[in-house]
Amino acid sequence: MSFSIGAAGPRMGPGGALERFGGRDEMHPFDIQVVLRLLAFVRPYWRYMVAALLLMLVASLLTLATPYLVKIAIDQNIAQRDVPGLTRTALLIAATFGGIYLTAAGQRWLLSWVGLRVLATLRRDLFRHLQNLPLGYHDTHIVGVTISRVINDVGVINDLLSQGVVTLIGDSVVLVGIVIAMISMSPKLALLSFSVLPLMIAATLLFTGRAQRAFRQTRSGIAAVVGDFAENLSGMRVIQAFAQEGATFEHFDTLNRVNRDAHISAMTLSFVFLPAVEFLSMLATAVVLWFGGAFVIRAELSLGVVVAFLAYVTRFFDPIQELSQLYTTVQAAMAGGERVIEVLDTPAEVSDRPVAREMPRIVGRIELDRVSFAYRGEMEVLHDVSLRIEPGQTVALVGPTGAGKTSIANLIARFYDVTAGAVRIDGINVRDVRQRSLRGQMGLVPQDPFLFSGTIAENIAFGRPDASPAEIEAAARLARCHDFIAGLPGGYQTEILEGGVNLSLGQRQLLCIARAALADPRILILDEATASVDTITEAYIQDAIDRLLEGRTAIVIAHRLSTIRNADLICVVQDGRIVEQGRHEELLARGGLYRELYEKQFLGVASAESATSRDD
Ligand SMILES: Nc1ncnc2c1ncn2[C@@H]1O[C@H](COP(=O)(O)OP(=O)(O)OP(=O)(O)O)[C@@H](O)[C@H]1O
Ligand SMILES: [Mg+2]
Repeated sequence: MSFSIGAAGPRMGPGGALERFGGRDEMHPFDIQVVLRLLAFVRPYWRYMVAALLLMLVASLLTLATPYLVKIAIDQNIAQRDVPGLTRTALLIAATFGGIYLTAAGQRWLLSWVGLRVLATLRRDLFRHLQNLPLGYHDTHIVGVTISRVINDVGVINDLLSQGVVTLIGDSVVLVGIVIAMISMSPKLALLSFSVLPLMIAATLLFTGRAQRAFRQTRSGIAAVVGDFAENLSGMRVIQAFAQEGATFEHFDTLNRVNRDAHISAMTLSFVFLPAVEFLSMLATAVVLWFGGAFVIRAELSLGVVVAFLAYVTRFFDPIQELSQLYTTVQAAMAGGERVIEVLDTPAEVSDRPVAREMPRIVGRIELDRVSFAYRGEMEVLHDVSLRIEPGQTVALVGPTGAGKTSIANLIARFYDVTAGAVRIDGINVRDVRQRSLRGQMGLVPQDPFLFSGTIAENIAFGRPDASPAEIEAAARLARCHDFIAGLPGGYQTEILEGGVNLSLGQRQLLCIARAALADPRILILDEATASVDTITEAYIQDAIDRLLEGRTAIVIAHRLSTIRNADLICVVQDGRIVEQGRHEELLARGGLYRELYEKQFLGVASAESATSRDD
């Protein structure tokens, strides 16, 4: 919404894209709710955090002690020409630095140890939650943006949780300690050294507002870059086919430049601000030297105190610098944290009811009782659909594209919940049973056969990873894909590339059928691919399907005449309704939509034209 990066930023193009990629970026003030939620991830490691904090405190105290030791060396040991005393103090100072080194190293190690665990936990929780989110969520979220959340946003949260909290406490202790030490040594000189603080505060205020904006833009900018990148990678085939490399490159390049510029703005701010702090610290040193020196000349202060002051003043500005850096970390983590929590808080809409029970072994009666359905409350796509399938029956759903066939299948597997009516299996409402126990007994051969990267054997055994090689082969034989697999150089161990691109569509379908066969489901949902395959493969697939359907209840979204002819019942779906039901011959005789479809779709346009018996 609020995207304008510099006056030159092309607002229309990337602005729209940023929004599409989840760039809804309102203000991220410090939100205690978000912080508390995030801190919960650190809670299991609180002992380590406390240990890190203690080490930090020891380091802080040692840091505070060294200037004081220098003062003792100058004002006492040197002034009294006490060489053994000077040696002792010098050794003590060396030991202090050694202590600082050890405690700082230990504290950093502890924080990283915790941080990396929190990081992994957050990613694990996100992954698990994303797995349980309904398909409706995934329909509306761009993959790359989700990836960006899991990788980038989680990273900045980790920065805050692991480094931030301890830095905040440790630095505050150092600040307060230095103020106390300075005031107790010389209130007058202390006040003079703090005279640069108003400048410091002004600089910080000037910086933080801008930094907040800049860092927010880098957050959504990187999400847009990753989102566009991922989408283009998966659509590479289409991009190259339509020779749109130029246009998609321009689009990506714009997003990339917008992100780069946002990042540069953020960096510029940091690099203007941090040296400014340095400068002010030097200014304070000059003030101490000038006034402190005058006090020493007038014998109002000892030289040791002024030297100690010089050390304290430089140390005073380090925590301030760190704290303002912490502020940007907090900004980034707020922006990232909100996005991550938004994902974690998205309810698993099609979630199991608390009383949900295990689905008993399915016999196979399926009933759709006056079902209406709309995706995400949008336009209704199924209206008052009723259907009864007896155990062992094969029902074919046919109808024009977009009629609602896949949607009906989605409801039976409960990928979505009905808007009205009920889906019952063996008389049990699918909403009353645990999803896993339901889907575990269902087999799905999707319209778009999806294969994972891995071997052919792993893909067939996807639903039953414990299957033996013999079982895998039996399933492959049943699906009539054993021959082609055996013909491959690697056989069952042939690696499938991502998405199965090194196999033909027909081969992919056969593998998906084998996968469903091995899972031995009670109910089979088969969404036949619309793409046509050669007649031999067609015959193979048909044969595979016939064997697969034996002894199971099956819903087949059919595009093949042979499947339809064999079905016990054919349902013609049109505009979200079942408009005709019956067997092939009955429906043909009725001369309705089925006959029309049959003539146009299944016999081909040519034969439809030659069919003379049409009377319209
Ligand atoms: N995930 C979704 N979100 C929103 N609307 C959807 C979604 N999937 C499908 N639709 C809409 O639902 C309607 C029915 O789609 P469906 O996929 O069930 O059709 P179909 O009969 O399977 O078509 P085809 O034969 O082309 O596969 C369509 O109007 C479509 O636009
Ligand atoms: Mg479909």
